[in-house]
Amino acid sequence: MIKKNNIYKEEEEIKKRLEKLSRIINKHNLLYHQKDKPKISDKEYDDYVKENNKLEKQYPHLILNNGPNTIVGSSISNKFKKIEHKSAMLSLANAFNKKDLSDFIERLKKFLNLEEKTNISFIGEPKIDGLSLNLLYENGKLKTASTRGDGKIGEDVSNNIINVIGIPKQLNGWKHPKEIEIRGEIFLNKKDFIKLNSNLQEKHKFSNPRNAAAGSLRQLDPNITKTRPLRFIAHGLGYTKKKYMTVNEFYSELKLWGIPNSNLTKTFNSIDSMMDYYHVIEKKRSSLKYDIDGVVFKIHSYDLHDRLGFVGKNPRWAIALKFSAEKTSTKIIDIDFQVGRTGAITPVGRLEEVNIGGVLVSNATLHNFDEIAKKDIRIGDIVQIQRAGDVIPQVIKVIEKAKNRNNIISPPKFCPVCNGNVSKEKDEAILRCINQYNCDAQKIGQLVHFVSKQGINIDGFGVKQIKQFYDLNFIKKIDDIFLIDMHKNNILELDGWGDQSYNNLIKSIDNSKKINLERFIFAIGIRYVGETISTLLAKEFLNIDNFINNSKNYERLINIDGLGPKAIDSIVDYFSNTLNQKTILNLIKKLTISNFRKPQSSSFFNNKSIVFTGSLLKLSRDEAKHLARELGATITSTVSKRTDYVIVGDKPGSKAKKAMELKIPIMTEDDWLNKIKP
Ligand code: IVH
Repeated sequence: MIKKNNIYKEEEEIKKRLEKLSRIINKHNLLYHQKDKPKISDKEYDDYVKENNKLEKQYPHLILNNGPNTIVGSSISNKFKKIEHKSAMLSLANAFNKKDLSDFIERLKKFLNLEEKTNISFIGEPKIDGLSLNLLYENGKLKTASTRGDGKIGEDVSNNIINVIGIPKQLNGWKHPKEIEIRGEIFLNKKDFIKLNSNLQEKHKFSNPRNAAAGSLRQLDPNITKTRPLRFIAHGLGYTKKKYMTVNEFYSELKLWGIPNSNLTKTFNSIDSMMDYYHVIEKKRSSLKYDIDGVVFKIHSYDLHDRLGFVGKNPRWAIALKFSAEKTSTKIIDIDFQVGRTGAITPVGRLEEVNIGGVLVSNATLHNFDEIAKKDIRIGDIVQIQRAGDVIPQVIKVIEKAKNRNNIISPPKFCPVCNGNVSKEKDEAILRCINQYNCDAQKIGQLVHFVSKQGINIDGFGVKQIKQFYDLNFIKKIDDIFLIDMHKNNILELDGWGDQSYNNLIKSIDNSKKINLERFIFAIGIRYVGETISTLLAKEFLNIDNFINNSKNYERLINIDGLGPKAIDSIVDYFSNTLNQKTILNLIKKLTISNFRKPQSSSFFNNKSIVFTGSLLKLSRDEAKHLARELGATITSTVSKRTDYVIVGDKPGSKAKKAMELKIPIMTEDDWLNKIKP
């Protein structure tokens, strides 16, 4: 009895100590993370954490619900409100040399049906390594500021840009457009980044100015953001009804309004002058106040932007010419095999940690086994590695061979995760685990893809949580996510989970339930069905039922312009699998999948199915198709009873004949152009 009492007493004291430690650690976390004003040394802080963790391990039943190891708020949260951009925020395709640049120019001339020797005017400017931001001004007043997000929907950071240099609340001048979206880059100067870091404790320092800018902008407490000297430089125009002829005309207006754009812009008419500019800016790179990672070339005329449109997420009218990657050397300590969502087995080098351009690197991809053999890479070798922007660091070559070189890296005979069979497709260098529906790595990869920003977008539900729930059998397939509340009690008992984090997760899951068709198709992760193909399918089938009903209909799928045989096989294969069928049916019950929204246009070709045949003289085939899609038409490659119009160019082939047989209206190129003239 006496002993028992003593235990109670001891436990009482432990509990008190844990409570005290929790208060201390949480207080210093706040000073550290949010206020950037630490009051104790790293060592003192670490000692508190160590003491806390030791006690938690010894007395697991005394761990506090809101102790220092509980994930609260920040990791799973609906931090910011969502804002839909008025026009999509695109990204840029990359070029790395003169050949890439000249291919880009050649491609767009072909698209516009221009002769090779025609000159197109470009504007060039440095590519700032920051984050893109969308500012919406209404009648000259700043209405909202939002991050790029997934390009369509971003985060509302309006309260966090109040002190940003270069973002006026009210535009100078008068006669402002009713609405205008101004896009640009938000960043920190290199000096300001160093100063900010010098006030942060070692493990909280940012690794580069870009991360520091992102961390500062996305602070929950706007008062902290205010103390960070963020800057804004405009580089683009989003939605507006106002008509500008050239990029320079828009930039001149921005200057009058008090919004800065780059002071290093230049216009060009030849590829040689563009390359000269690239080299000049590269030389200036280290002396500039902010980080840049290349130059951007954009066509000068907005009319051509409209004609060219975009492919996937990238405009056809602009390209980033990147500077070469930063390189260094280090030792390969080990080589692991990683299995991705599509079963691809990638060898990854574990490295002795090195600093490349301010970023600490300890892993680098070795791409595939042919590469390893070609470069003869072995464990213990000193290798050269390179890192460019957000791309995963890569091993380039062996610089110094290891002393003992008996350890040749050979491809695994079986999947390193599920032990299933592996195979290599004829035209691919990649080795894959073919256990598509039963390999844990692929299943986890699918789940992570499903919840990702581009997928169903469950805020804050990342790899770590997915793995945790997968291992505990709470979530095995994507539809299990919507039944997670069945495991509420078990989750609340887990290390790192509490009421708040659990409720936030449920809220995020609920928020993700309304989804549009193209996103849904992308999220379910059919191989070879990326964002572009998903949109193509959504446009074709308009609603989920129609898509599912036709998902095994080869005839119908083959007819969709832009859909290749690999994607078609993969779609049919996916929907032929009974487990997948069940998953989809379960998902449909839980989600509200909105129909594809056709452009609201009264155009003659809206909702029409059209076929082009023969060579067009005034536009390229690609531009004609692009235009037709913009007008809401669907383009197919074969003529059938469902075809509404066949547009014939020079030397039409059998399609024109078939159209006559089926009595489908035929139009010449001129008829078609006259119909679509604004
Ligand atoms: S033009 C259609 N100009 O780079 C997008 N972008 O890698 C047109 N960026 O998302 C962007 N400096 O955030 C443009 N001078 C510049 C830029 C720039 C940085 C960023 C931008 C974009 C990203 C693409």
